[in-house]
Amino acid sequence: MKILVATDKPFAPVAINGIREEIEAAGMELALLEKYGEKSKLIDAIADADGIIFRSDIIDAEVLNAAKKLKVAVRAGAGYDNIDLSTATANGVCVMNTPGQNSNAVAELVFGMTVMLIRNFYNGSSGTELKGKKLGIHAYGQVGRNVARVAKGFGMEVFAFDPYCPAEIMEADGVKPVSTVEELYSNCQYVSLHIPATAETKKSINYKLLNRMPKNAVLINTARKEVIDEEELVKIMKDRTDIRYISDIKPDNAEIFAEKFENRYFFTPKKMGAQTAEANINAGIAAAKQSVAFLKDGIDKYRVNK
Ligand code: 3PG
Repeated sequence: MKILVATDKPFAPVAINGIREEIEAAGMELALLEKYGEKSKLIDAIADADGIIFRSDIIDAEVLNAAKKLKVAVRAGAGYDNIDLSTATANGVCVMNTPGQNSNAVAELVFGMTVMLIRNFYNGSSGTELKGKKLGIHAYGQVGRNVARVAKGFGMEVFAFDPYCPAEIMEADGVKPVSTVEELYSNCQYVSLHIPATAETKKSINYKLLNRMPKNAVLINTARKEVIDEEELVKIMKDRTDIRYISDIKPDNAEIFAEKFENRYFFTPKKMGAQTAEANINAGIAAAKQSVAFLKDGIDKYRVNK
C-alpha cells in the first residue's frame, strides 16, 4: 500500500521523519511530493496511491478521478474546504481531518500578529496594550479555545459567539458567551475569526457587521479569506480610518491594502498559522496514523464525508 504525502507547502523535515516512521512501521510505502507547483504533478503522483495526506492543497474532482486506487484522504489540519467531498464520496474515498492538532500554532500567531500591529510594527513609536481590552472570538472550536486561553494570559476580557457550542463550555473556560453575532461585533474592539468557509459563512463578514465594531477596531483573520467580503472590508477601511485588519491569508486585492491602508493592515504572504514544527509534527503524524488505521482496519474516526 502506498500513501502519498502531497504538500505544496511542505511539512518541517522533522514531521516528515515521524510520518515516514508511522507508515513504514505498518509495512506501507511513503511517496513524497513537495512544492510541486503544477497540478499535473499531483495528478501523476496520486495515480497509484492508496492514501493521500495533504494540507491546503486543492484536491478537486480532476485530482480525485485520477486516483484510481485511492481509499483514504486525510487533511493534516482542520479546514477541509479544499477537497471536493461529493466526488470523494462518489468515488468511495473516506475523507478525514485531524482536529485540534495545529490549533495552538494558529492561536499563537493571532497574538504574534496582533501585538506587532498595536506596537506599530516595532517602529519605536508609542503603541497600545491588550490588557483590559475586549476580545470577541467568532466560533469557539479548537482554535477559538486556544485563542481564549492565550487572551486570558494577556488579561483580556473574552467573549465568544458560536451557535454550535454550548454556553457552559465557554463559561467553564472563563469566556462570556453572547447570543448573536451582532452583539459580538458591537461589544468587542478585537474580533478573531475562527469560522470555517461554508456556503453559510462565505462573505458573511461584511460592511454592516464590521461597522458595529467600537473605535480602533482590529479584525484578525486566521480562518479563510472566503469568509470576508473583501470589497466591503476595503470600503469600511476607507470610510473608517480607525479600523485595522490582520491576517495569515493574502487578500485577493493585496495591492489596494498596500496603496490605501499603510500601517493599518498586515498579512503573511502564504497562509502560515499552522506553519510550526510542533503543528506539523502533531497534524502530520496524526494524519499518518489515521491513514494507516483506515487502510489496515477501516477505522474512520474524524471522517467528514459520512
Ligand atoms: C487548517 O485548516 O488546519 C489551517 O488553515 C492550516 O492549514 P495549512 O496546513 O495549509 O497551513
